[in-house]
Amino acid sequence: MAEIIGAVGTSHVPAIGGAIARRVEDEPYWRPFFKAFPKVRRWLAEARPDTVVMFYNDHGLNFFLDKMPTFAVGAAGEYRNADEGWGLPVQHPLHGDPELSWHVIETLTADGFDLTTCQEMQVDHAVVVPMQLLWPGERPVRLIPVAINTVQHPLPSAARCLALGRSVGRAVATYGGDSRVLVVGSGGLSHQLDGARAGFINRVFDEMCLQALVDGPEVLTRYSTAELVELAGTQGVEILNWIAMRGALSGRIGVVAKNYHIPISNTATGVLALETG
Ligand code: DHB
Ligand code: FE
Repeated sequence: MAEIIGAVGTSHVPAIGGAIARRVEDEPYWRPFFKAFPKVRRWLAEARPDTVVMFYNDHGLNFFLDKMPTFAVGAAGEYRNADEGWGLPVQHPLHGDPELSWHVIETLTADGFDLTTCQEMQVDHAVVVPMQLLWPGERPVRLIPVAINTVQHPLPSAARCLALGRSVGRAVATYGGDSRVLVVGSGGLSHQLDGARAGFINRVFDEMCLQALVDGPEVLTRYSTAELVELAGTQGVEILNWIAMRGALSGRIGVVAKNYHIPISNTATGVLALETG
């Protein structure tokens, strides 16, 4: 039997990877962000997930503006990291879970999602920074990356991303194999890296989103993509990855950890760990 043991949403600002490399997590600038993780790691050590399904957005490593799938699911045996320009140390390849990947792909396709399937896929900071945060040492999990286009407009709607997550939840529930699955939503919270509003942060909107992701994410589907850009910033639309993450959870939800801290680099950061059952 396969089951989803819970979910973690976390920011993926590349500078976090730099802080890990320099071992400065306890310095005053970094502590307010990193302090949320020991509890999350203890929970994961007990919950022992086998596979991580990670909703994230590629930032120009595997996909670029010339070819941008709306939804792409990895079905590789291994995912290599590379430096897409931030100068971060390249992380070891991550093991894939092709069998569960193909079951996810078949379920999502049956549910009406027209996917790009990737039997080769490189993963950027949006995948490896969350993995480093959750497992600072050995990574005892396999990875199924699900890339959502939050970069090249038109983007998928919040409602569509929530439905995508729900379909992933159905895929795990109908899987014939044995697997304990953790779902991760990577990115956010509010941030805008360029243009006239560079540095834009919206605490009120972020805090509303964090609460809605606990209580019921449906309210977030009221926002159009244009409204999300307005409220969260051009890159804050990465909240779509968190909405998909939450869609995969059903039944009773408990909060393991919740943290909000402004800023890291140009970004309002959030961490939200949710357990099922
Ligand atoms: C930053 C945030 C991101 O989400 C990202 O992908 C790259 C950079 C930043 O705030 O520096
Ligand atoms: Fe990003």
